[in-house]
Amino acid sequence: MQLIWHIYSAIILLHLAGEATSSCSTYCSCKWKNGKQTVECPNRNMSDIPDGLDSETQVLDFSKNRVGKLTKDLFLKKQLINLQRLYMSECRIKAVHRDAFKGLSNLVELDLSRNFIETIPTGAWINCPSVMRLSLNENPITTLKRLAFNHLPYLTALELSNCAVEDMEEDAFLGLHTLERLTIDGNKLQTIPGRKTLPENLKVRLPCHGPLLLVAGNNSTVDRTTGLRWSAKATRSPFN
Ligand SMILES: *[C@@H]1O[C@H](CO)[C@@H](O)[C@H](O)[C@H]1NC(C)=O
Ligand SMILES: *[C@@H]1O[C@H](CO)[C@@H](O)[C@H](O)[C@H]1NC(C)=O
Ligand SMILES: *[C@@H]1O[C@H](CO)[C@@H](O)[C@H](O)[C@H]1NC(C)=O
Repeated sequence: MQLIWHIYSAIILLHLAGEATSSCSTYCSCKWKNGKQTVECPNRNMSDIPDGLDSETQVLDFSKNRVGKLTKDLFLKKQLINLQRLYMSECRIKAVHRDAFKGLSNLVELDLSRNFIETIPTGAWINCPSVMRLSLNENPITTLKRLAFNHLPYLTALELSNCAVEDMEEDAFLGLHTLERLTIDGNKLQTIPGRKTLPENLKVRLPCHGPLLLVAGNNSTVDRTTGLRWSAKATRSPFN
């Protein structure tokens, strides 16, 4: 009888240990989605990413929580260094430490939209150099300083809609050689400071209704509704 009890306990212990190594927080749902190991915990009013999530996680949806700030080595400490997509929209983020994204060398998509970020966390990009899509929509960012997105050599889509941008320094987008799409509608920009400000391969396409959208390779339509004036001293196109 006692032997059976011991075996039974051992089985339970093994079972618990097995769960601990591939654990999912009670507040998250962990599953394979579109071929990626995905953890979803949106809208849980959580102030921190739970500990002990599987380090193989590739996609983390942590939007609509109340994180407040992205601290030093956050994802390194959570052992989430295999993240490819990180969604932290509406997380009340005000501060992003320059080493917050340390270890995220595989990250290709980063959504930080609808937060309280006032300054582009330029120094933090160096830790996630593979990012191809970056959304900073709806943050109270007032100035785009020079080299704001340096260290993001693969960025193809940058979203800066509905921020509070009123100032853009020349060379704000310097280094973005592969950018194909830039949305910057809903800001307070009146002018773009010079003909070299926008990435060279971006041609302008400004649909008459809808967002100011700059896409590569097509400058055939010109917006008449956004009120944006181009101060570039270009004779042919503002962007070449
Ligand atoms: C979220 O958590 C905070 C702090 O614990 C609490 O004050 C607030 O009421 C919570 N909000 C919701 C919607 O649960
Ligand atoms: C450029 O954009 C316009 C309007 O969206 C479209 O009609 C046109 O076919 C495009 N031209 C090229 C070469 O992509
Ligand atoms: C962009 O516009 C300029 C001037 O209107 C024109 O010379 C150039 O061919 C256009 N480029 C494209 C890709 O449509």
